Amino acid sequence: MVDAYKGPVTRDGIRLHNEADFAGMRKAGHLAADILDRIAEHVFVGQSTGEIDRIIEAMVNAAGATSATIGYRGYQHASCISINHVVCHGIPSDKKLKDGDILNIDVTVIVDGWFGDTSRMFVAGKLGRKAERLIEVTHEALFKGIAAVKPGNTFGDIGHAIQSFVEGHRMSVVRDFCGHGLGTVFHAPPNVLHYGREGTGPVLEEGMFFTIEPMVNLGRPETKVLADDWTAVTRDKSLSAQFEHSIGVTATGCEIFTLSPAGKFHPTY
Ligand code: MF3
Ligand code: CO
Ligand code: CO
Repeated sequence: MVDAYKGPVTRDGIRLHNEADFAGMRKAGHLAADILDRIAEHVFVGQSTGEIDRIIEAMVNAAGATSATIGYRGYQHASCISINHVVCHGIPSDKKLKDGDILNIDVTVIVDGWFGDTSRMFVAGKLGRKAERLIEVTHEALFKGIAAVKPGNTFGDIGHAIQSFVEGHRMSVVRDFCGHGLGTVFHAPPNVLHYGREGTGPVLEEGMFFTIEPMVNLGRPETKVLADDWTAVTRDKSLSAQFEHSIGVTATGCEIFTLSPAGKFHPTY
């Protein structure tokens, strides 16, 4: 990771950030979440995901921020938009949304060098019953993971909280993609798995910054990446959903940097 960070790092390579760093993440997270709040009205039947992405890029630029995804490993868009059985990393295109489509929109911005990364689910037209259940369980799974975040717990505790909740609802957790440390870089240690055993993995310490971003499938957990080298889909074509927050570990729990300023994160807002 080539950046200016000079603070402490754990033996697992996880950076421990200070109060000024929290302030930086607050600004970046706020912008990312605010963009998702304001994109909601642009999601409707007949709209293309490419147009949604162009609006997001314009919002990033208007805020004087930088898109973290444009130019990242050759990716060319300001968002990932993943519809129905697309698990993650869907590429915006001229494809139009159809009635009942569910979609995850994932935005990462850089503000004053700090990365704010968040995604949430949207629907075009009328939300179907199965899709609604999937979205509800995935949203709650993210918050089960967040509830496990406090100094002394482990990353395995986060994964276990998510996995046991999801599987208790007869849905499955995607193993092929995970959350990640972030801060002044996009992807840093550790890998934040959304499954696992209690008490395993690195111990959480105050000042760690990372994402939790569970992907949940109605069917089996296996995924495959399409020939475009980005789009990940469920192998069995079942519906998939995802929610993502960027968080920082505090003395007593965590701070969520990407809370929706308008209270629009929850799918039934
Ligand atoms: N924002 C995604 C994440 O949650 C990463 C997208 S990388 C891209 O980690 F290149 F596909 F945009
Ligand atoms: Co992320
Ligand atoms: Co993301």
